[in-house]
Amino acid sequence: MTAVVQTPVGDSLRAGSTLLRLHMPEEAPHLDDLWPLLGAEERDRARRLARCDDAARYIVGHARLRQWLGRHLRVAPQALRFAANRHGKPMLDGLPCAPCFNLSHSGSWVLIAIDESGPVGVDVETIRPNMAQIDDFRAVLSPEEQHWLDRLPAAERAQAFARTWVRKEAYVKAIGEGMSRDLRSISIIDGSDGGPSLLYDDNAEPTCGDWRLVDLTIDDSHAACLAYRGNV
Ligand SMILES: CC(C)(COP(=O)(O)OP(=O)(O)OC[C@H]1O[C@@H](n2cnc3c(N)ncnc32)[C@H](O)[C@@H]1OP(=O)(O)O)[C@@H](O)C(=O)NCCC(=O)NCCS
Repeated sequence: MTAVVQTPVGDSLRAGSTLLRLHMPEEAPHLDDLWPLLGAEERDRARRLARCDDAARYIVGHARLRQWLGRHLRVAPQALRFAANRHGKPMLDGLPCAPCFNLSHSGSWVLIAIDESGPVGVDVETIRPNMAQIDDFRAVLSPEEQHWLDRLPAAERAQAFARTWVRKEAYVKAIGEGMSRDLRSISIIDGSDGGPSLLYDDNAEPTCGDWRLVDLTIDDSHAACLAYRGNV
């Protein structure tokens, strides 16, 4: 018999938004109970993931998302159907007024952002000590970001790079374009309040200024950011 796994409540960063911060050591004991909440495609994908920790994060992310949305929309989690845009961003199928959502998984964490008023993107990344030295990573920086990073003391670079990276990923995930975008054409720097500020996006419509980015506090070894559209 399947045990009832309580739906996580989450934090509300503003009206109509919810952020679930799921810590894998606490979620792992529930994996067997979360499995039946997944759809057939999700189970296939989880089975194909070679690494156990990738599969575990995938199961937790998708089952907890279904559980939260099912409760919010008053339907069984298993009955929800998903579609994706042409860049792979998932959304609920056939429910145009349903909340927007996005999820991210890395290291010990799965983050799920849900927003009832518009598109949202979230990204979490494990901070690796050599991040700022890896050429592949540096190739995603705009000239302004590169300049800022190079001026920092070496000891601060990995963390600063991880922070820049999750800000850019949260943004491209919010706009739904993901890694199809050339990240060098997007520049996100520290604003006057020390928080992230979108300096420019070469491809964006004039409404680019409507996007808000919020650095999320997770723990010392992870960086995370949330992006959404709105003024508050
Ligand atoms: C989504 C993407 C930004 C990956 O981010 P990542 O740091 O590796 O992984 P994260 O855990 O943060 O996010 C993955 C989740 O983002 C979501 N996602 C997938 N495509 C997305 C998109 N275009 N926009 C927003 N979210 C997306 C999915 O829910 C995915 O979760 P799942 O794998 O459990 O289904 C990136 O893989 C991507 O853009 N994929 C789309 C395919 C693509 O454009 N490929 C080009 C390869 S160069």
